[in-house]
Amino acid sequence: MTIQRILTGIQATGELHLGNYAGAILPILEFAKANPDEQEVFVFCADWHGLTNKDKFEKPGLYRNKVLACLLALGYPVDKHVLYTQSSIPEILEMVWYLSSSIHVGILERNVTYKDALQNNKLPTVALFNYPILMACDILAVKANMVPVGKDQSQHLELCADFAKSFNHMTQTECFPIPKAYLQDNPVLPGNDGRKMSKSYGNTLELFADLKTVQKQIKAIKTDSKSREEPKDPSDCLVYQYMQALGNQESTAYMADKLRQGNYGYGDAKADLWQAYNAVFTPEKYALYAELQQDSVLTDMLAEPLEKVRSIVVETTQHMRQALKF
Ligand code: TRP
Repeated sequence: MTIQRILTGIQATGELHLGNYAGAILPILEFAKANPDEQEVFVFCADWHGLTNKDKFEKPGLYRNKVLACLLALGYPVDKHVLYTQSSIPEILEMVWYLSSSIHVGILERNVTYKDALQNNKLPTVALFNYPILMACDILAVKANMVPVGKDQSQHLELCADFAKSFNHMTQTECFPIPKAYLQDNPVLPGNDGRKMSKSYGNTLELFADLKTVQKQIKAIKTDSKSREEPKDPSDCLVYQYMQALGNQESTAYMADKLRQGNYGYGDAKADLWQAYNAVFTPEKYALYAELQQDSVLTDMLAEPLEKVRSIVVETTQHMRQALKF
């Protein structure tokens, strides 16, 4: 039986929040429960992808370790599956050059992320333009079979499959397996004021923020003016959506029942949400998160997986060199 390779990347452009937890981190932790004899999971911090314009130069340095520490503190099993930083593998950029040589600019000009950026007056850097090629190389570098991503990334995944096919075709090789997207259609979690969750609105619930802040952010979750007695529809309740995002089915079902029954106010729901947060983000995990952010600790913990993934990528680069007769 061939082992399926599952790969996904997380950007390092800001503090991780509850939306990232529900949309990316929980699914990754679920995949990583798989038996490594059947499936290998590759997760990496996409720090190069953060560098698409000069306003973001500081970001990867600020957030790279936090992304890795967060996954590790929440139990990503780095002894069984792989976790690494994109920028630790320079061969990926060698691949970018080879792959670029087979891609027509017209294809990239039609990419929605790029078109959006132009429309919103963002600086159209070459890096932003090339973003889909770098992303494709992340995937093709380990010859991944499946890539779990949110819907916003589906065009990037289609491009990756096209690039892989045309490279194979142009070089008359089977250099790359064609990766499949595994689209996750979790609804996007709104901020605690009901608007889009965004640091600039100050409405996020940051993972591993200090507990006073978390408590404040939970208290501030916007609710309507129904009285404690009135029955409530969970699907209209932001506190309930946050509970769902934390991923504990029992507490989520309990809250849904209580809301429907009535005599359960928003204050009660917020108190239950606060407890549920503390049950996931325990003091032990907070302590681990703090410790794991140190460069030396991370380098140590990730040395073995890095060696493993790098040797895979070196081999893939070699295959590309052979295909191009370098
Ligand atoms: N572009 C992805 C995002 O913004 C992050 C990413 C980079 C990625 N490389 C990847 C995701 C490869 C999956 C596979 O979320």
